[in-house]
Amino acid sequence: MSIGSDLSKAKYILECDGLVAIPTETVYGLAANAFSNSAILKVYKAKDRPSFNPLIVHVKNIEAADEIAKIPAVLKELANHFWPGPLTLLVPKKEKISDLVTAGSDMVAIRMPNHPMTLELLSSLSFPLVAPSANLFGYVSPTNASHVQEGLGGSVDYILDGGQSEIGLESTIVSLQNNTIIVHRLGAITLFQLKTMSKLDLALNIQNNSNPVAPGMLDKHYSPACKLYLYKEDSDLQESNIGLIWFGADVPEGLHKTVHHFNLSKTGLLTEAASNLFCFLRQLDDLNLKHAYIKAVPNRDIGMAINDRINRAVAD
Ligand code: TXA
Ligand code: MG
Repeated sequence: MSIGSDLSKAKYILECDGLVAIPTETVYGLAANAFSNSAILKVYKAKDRPSFNPLIVHVKNIEAADEIAKIPAVLKELANHFWPGPLTLLVPKKEKISDLVTAGSDMVAIRMPNHPMTLELLSSLSFPLVAPSANLFGYVSPTNASHVQEGLGGSVDYILDGGQSEIGLESTIVSLQNNTIIVHRLGAITLFQLKTMSKLDLALNIQNNSNPVAPGMLDKHYSPACKLYLYKEDSDLQESNIGLIWFGADVPEGLHKTVHHFNLSKTGLLTEAASNLFCFLRQLDDLNLKHAYIKAVPNRDIGMAINDRINRAVAD
């Protein structure tokens, strides 16, 4: 395994059915040839991902998406507007996509990521790439190359280093049902943006354990080994050796000196908070902390996606 920015090396490995971690604007993905079953199987194995949990396909442009799926006009308009970008379409698949990609479903998830290196790589290939987040199943998604190395260093052939992921949270996932946009995962493309662009009604279908439509979106997810609790007014911040992930300027006074304190955004910027969240969750584990509190952020715009990840990270 090595880390670098050699696109021809990445291309060669992918053409030989190998695994390459790729940078995207959301999080790093663990990529393989979406048309090769043997390459796809390696992805499930490397992530220790249950075979019932389908993979997102990454394409170089909308035409490439058309080759593998039947995309309703409304969703195509959204893609036209938001691609390349953090929007994933859940749409009926065509023959070219095997059941291994979709875990047996007739729907496939597709997006065109917005990262110059990965777009160049995709353009150089004759196939699209499956790429789930490049973390072990259930752990926090990686937002830089060293996160990938820590988790999957032993099983990935090459890590394409494209720096820190700009957004830091996974893409918004949508489908169309009865002329309604169904939102399956909250992300950087907000409900307001989807509503404004599509002019359709929206419905939230944020999956959890009790709703197996997208079995990957379990309640418990994105969790560090450190036990995380949602911060409440009466949380005991006098404990020693705990972590505290705060948001905004009004940091509680008189914290015990051994409290490890992080701030998602001192100035209350939600986009900054999104890009810090997964790094901070990982740092709790780097510090070997056993307990930590995290403050929810205002539940608007990308804040809804941040709170969704926080809720999954604190879930039992
Ligand atoms: O931003 C992102 O979407 C990142 C970057 C790498 O593109 N990828 C990502 O992939 O987050 P992953 O596998 O960690 O999350 C994809 C989610 C999973 O919860 C999976 O269950 C769901 O999308 N999904 C994928 N294909 C699906 C399908 N055919 N039907 C229903 N859910 C699907
Ligand atoms: Mg994931």
